[in-house]
Amino acid sequence: MKKIFLDLLKQPITNSYLSKIDKKSIKKEFFYNLKISYDTKNHLVSIFKPISPKKQYTNKYAHRASESITMKKSFKSISKKLVKKFRPKILMEIGSNDGVFIKNFSKKKVIAVEPCKNLAKITNKLGYYTYDKFWNLSLAKKITNSHGKFDLIYSANTISHIPKLNETFKSIYLSLSTNGVFVFEDPYIGSVIKNNSYDQFYDEHVHLFSLLAMSNLVRAQNLRVIDVELLPTHGGSIRFYVARKNSDHKASKNVKKIYDLEKKEKLNKYFTYKKFAIRVKRSKVQLNKILKNLKKKGERVISYGATYKSSTIYNYCNIDSKIIEFVTDSTKNKQGKFTPGKHIKIIAPINLINEKINYVFLGAWNFVKEISIKEKKFLNNGGKFITHVPKPRILSRNEYR
Ligand code: TMP
Repeated sequence: MKKIFLDLLKQPITNSYLSKIDKKSIKKEFFYNLKISYDTKNHLVSIFKPISPKKQYTNKYAHRASESITMKKSFKSISKKLVKKFRPKILMEIGSNDGVFIKNFSKKKVIAVEPCKNLAKITNKLGYYTYDKFWNLSLAKKITNSHGKFDLIYSANTISHIPKLNETFKSIYLSLSTNGVFVFEDPYIGSVIKNNSYDQFYDEHVHLFSLLAMSNLVRAQNLRVIDVELLPTHGGSIRFYVARKNSDHKASKNVKKIYDLEKKEKLNKYFTYKKFAIRVKRSKVQLNKILKNLKKKGERVISYGATYKSSTIYNYCNIDSKIIEFVTDSTKNKQGKFTPGKHIKIIAPINLINEKINYVFLGAWNFVKEISIKEKKFLNNGGKFITHVPKPRILSRNEYR
């Protein structure tokens, strides 16, 4: 049974940045009620009523995974690791975005799947064979008919975006060779609970996975988890290694270790999520208090990173351009636009010292280290970062060193 534990109120589609904020565009903006549920049977945490992927993954999709040095490095390192471990002749990536992962491989060795046509165009142009389609059973059949079964399938920050997981894993089973492995990583519910990072809930994150839930989901499709890793990326992610049930792979010790850890953290209990929801409400009050106090003192406050996550914060906490003057983002196609729902202007990164800005809210808090290095002068000059994880506060110097 799915039980709702958190209501994040009316939310827009996170990647639908507005080009203008005239009456017509505002009237056209789509909102839905973001409610989060816990499935008491398989322990999966999901959006209670996800919106249609066709509304989300359009040919105007804004996010470029290559924008962050941290992520580029992380994809390079996992590529090396996978090659060493599995030595695949050919591999497939599901959700290839702008090619940040596949660029680490020879063009002949990779098949990519990317439903956002603007992104698929980028990698096709680079010479990587990219299917601009949603991952489902009919696509899996089409691909395996043309390219055969895969020894390795990889996916990052994509599987958690797909509402129909049974069909997803059925398609994986069909596409894997007898001893083939499906490696995928997505934000981790354990980290969300620990960090109080409720902003990981937005339209694209239809599910936030735990090992407890994943074991149940893959088992239903004759697959099993053979290894699992907890990662620091995106503020806490989980990487699963999944193979066919009857494959030769032995389960690594990590599987039992993390399974036990999740039980200890009670990720299989509804009350864990109910308690989290209480902390989220408190977080909203505290963040508003900090920001409004700064405004009262006449301080300028801006935000760093027009992340999808921050859209949940602005809309849930009712933070608009009266509080956050503008957002800076290094992604060219986000610049000049306005954040969905609260319509805060997005501009290219600026010199914060010249602009006499002292307070910066970290919309991209998951990149605090990378940003601290970039903004060393700002911080040395007395500039301060504000975050909401794990608690809303103005960061002190020793917290990001
Ligand atoms: P993400 O957390 O969903 O990956 O999004 C990060 C966003 O933050 C992305 O739009 C790029 C932006 N960004 C900056 O503008 N400057 C930076 O230094 C970093 C690391 C990210």
